[in-house]
Amino acid sequence: MTVKEALETASRKLKENNIENPINEAKYLLKYLLKKDDVFFITDLNYELTDEEINEYEQLVNKRCAHVPFGYITGIKEFMGLDFHVDRETLIPRPETEIIVEYMIEHFKGITLDILEIGVGSGCISISTAKYLENVNILGVDINEKALSIANKNIEYHNVDDRVKFIRSDIYENVEGKFDVIISNPPYIRKDIIETLEDDVKKYEPILALDGGEDGLYFYREIIKNASKYLNESGHIIFEIGYDQGEQVKDLLIQNNFTNIEIINDLAGFDRTVVGKLK
Ligand SMILES: C[S@@+](CC[C@H](N)C(=O)[O-])C[C@H]1O[C@@H](n2cnc3c(N)ncnc32)[C@H](O)[C@@H]1O
Repeated sequence: MTVKEALETASRKLKENNIENPINEAKYLLKYLLKKDDVFFITDLNYELTDEEINEYEQLVNKRCAHVPFGYITGIKEFMGLDFHVDRETLIPRPETEIIVEYMIEHFKGITLDILEIGVGSGCISISTAKYLENVNILGVDINEKALSIANKNIEYHNVDDRVKFIRSDIYENVEGKFDVIISNPPYIRKDIIETLEDDVKKYEPILALDGGEDGLYFYREIIKNASKYLNESGHIIFEIGYDQGEQVKDLLIQNNFTNIEIINDLAGFDRTVVGKLK
C-alpha cells in the first residue's frame, strides 16, 4: 500500500466516524508515525509502506475514529512553540490559553516576579512563561497528583527546575507566601453543559479539569475571594474564562477590591481572558 492509498483509506474512515478535517487528520497521524516532514507528503506519495507501518497506522486511525484526542494518541501537544507531554490526567493545552502567556510576555518582560499558578495540568502555562521570561519564579499547584507527575516531567524536559516548582494543593490549601501575579485557567464548564460537549472532550479529558460547578464560576469565586491574602500590593490576577463569563468574573473582581479590569478576546472574537489589578 502506498502513502497515497493509505491516506485515502484513512480519510474515508475518519470521515465516516465524524472526525472533522479527516484529510488533515489522516496526514498528521501518518506524519507522526513515519516521522516525516510536509515535503515527504508532496514528493513521496508513492512510497510503499511496510506491513508493520500499515498495521501501526491502522491502529492509530482506529483510535482517532474512537475520538481519542490527537494529543493523547501522540502523548505530545505543542503550546507556545514548545512541546508538552500530556496524558489523560492532564487537559490538552489549547491555543486560546496562549493569550495568558502572551499577556505576561507583553506586560512583564524584564521584570522580576513571583507567580502563583492554580491548576497547572500539564504545566504548559507556568513552564512556557518561565521559558520566555527569565526573571520569574513560579509556584504552581494542582489537586491531581497524577497531573503533577506529568507537569514535573515537563519541568525536567524544559530544564526550568530552578525557577518552576509544582506542589499538590486544593487551590490555596498548601500555598505559603505572597506573589506578584496569580494565574489560573481553572475548570470553568457548567456542570450541566459537560454532557453536551463533543466526545473528544467529555469521554477522554479529565473531569477534574472541566467541571466548574453548578454555574461554572466556582473556582473564580474561590480564587478571587482569598486572592488578597496571597497577592502583593498592586498584584495582578489573570484568568482564562469561558466565552460567556467575562462580565460575571469582572463583577467578582470588582466586588473583591480589584481594579483596571480588562477582558481580552480570543481570535474567534470571544471573551477569553480577564486581567485585574489589586487596589
Ligand atoms: C482547565 S485545567 C488547566 C490546565 C492547564 N493549566 C492548561 O491551561 O492547560 C484545570 C486544572 O485545575 C486542576 N484543579 C481542579 N480542581 C482543583 C483544585 N481544587 N485545586 C487545584 N487545582 C485544581 C485540574 O486538575 C486541572 O489540571
